[in-house]
Amino acid sequence: MRRILIVLSLLILGLVACRQAAIETINVDELSAERQEASEKVLKQNCQSCHAPFADTDTRLAPPFFAIRKHYLKEYPEKGDFIKAIMAFVDKPSEEKVLMKGARKKFGLMPPINLDIDVLNDLAIYLYDEEQPSPHQPGSDVEIQSPESEVKRLALSTKKVLGKNLMQALSKGGKDYALSFCNLNAIRLSDSMSMQLGSLIKRVSDRPRNPGNRATEAEAKLIQEYQKMLTNGEALEPRIVKTATGLKGYHAITTMSMCLQCHGKKGADLDPSFYEEIKKLYPEDEAHAYGLDEIRGLWVIALDSL
Ligand code: HEC
Ligand code: HEC
Repeated sequence: MRRILIVLSLLILGLVACRQAAIETINVDELSAERQEASEKVLKQNCQSCHAPFADTDTRLAPPFFAIRKHYLKEYPEKGDFIKAIMAFVDKPSEEKVLMKGARKKFGLMPPINLDIDVLNDLAIYLYDEEQPSPHQPGSDVEIQSPESEVKRLALSTKKVLGKNLMQALSKGGKDYALSFCNLNAIRLSDSMSMQLGSLIKRVSDRPRNPGNRATEAEAKLIQEYQKMLTNGEALEPRIVKTATGLKGYHAITTMSMCLQCHGKKGADLDPSFYEEIKKLYPEDEAHAYGLDEIRGLWVIALDSL
């Protein structure tokens, strides 16, 4: 038994050492057009749901890359140092590595994002070489909101609370903790949000984990429609629909890498023994086998009650 333990710890140490060694030997080449495009896509799929470039301060989950790039360029003007610092942070965020103390305090520590070393290296080169869009603040406070933008605002601010809680749970206690947390808090969240926002807001899915979140037939159709639009690269604008029970606003919920450890493919992103735990809580679970950037469900907002 001892021998096995020793071999196991050596193996784990070896793996960690390998990953660090890989970050030591980085690549600083200019990216080909193809790799640049690939990096842009990685950024969109794995980072921008939190680091949204144009979100306003109310709905933001993390600072925009424009600001991150500025801080890192100032601290690490050398390309190699910049790339190493970005890679080290994304691979394993820690208090010591944080440059943006204000953002850390406001949003909590970022959870680690698991990317292939080469993909992460290219992404860091991309962030060094390319200017990132600067968020300009339209005078949203004074504008009268259209119903569409109101749906978007409510969905995003709910997502912000949920995402922030989930992120904190994931970085604090791992996914087992996040699971029990998510389970209880998803419900508490929609209650407190509906009180706070004076509206009825909920999440539904055509492949729900909690059977209480099952989409109606019409909602399932809308999910399919959004899935098609996403595949075609079209913008997922919110929808306003008149239903038998009143005016409803819908906003698509898409998957990103953080979601897949609970909603991904068994044996790939979703650990099979962890999935056993999920099944104990949700014996009828259908919310697994998702990939990146798929429609996971909808936020539904009852607009009549606004
Ligand atoms: C789940 C939300 C989330 C995702 C996804 C995410 N981040 Fe972050 N990120 C944060 C938060 C919150 C902060 C600010 C707090 C901190 O520094 O930890 C942050 C900060 C950063 C910082 C600055 C750290 C510093 O020194 O202060 C970098 C660099 C960064 N993220 C890169 C990335 C990249 C690259 C990706 C995609 C591969 C990514 N992030 C995906 C939430 C996220
Ligand atoms: C730590 C595990 C975990 C992570 C990570 C996670 N979820 Fe979930 N998710 C759950 C659980 C558990 C439920 C069931 C909650 C309930 O009982 O209402 C759920 C429910 C949902 C629902 C409601 C519909 C349904 O299936 O019941 C949506 C939509 C959803 N998750 C989307 C996401 C998205 C998008 C992400 C990534 C941003 C994500 N989840 C990340 C565990 C997780």
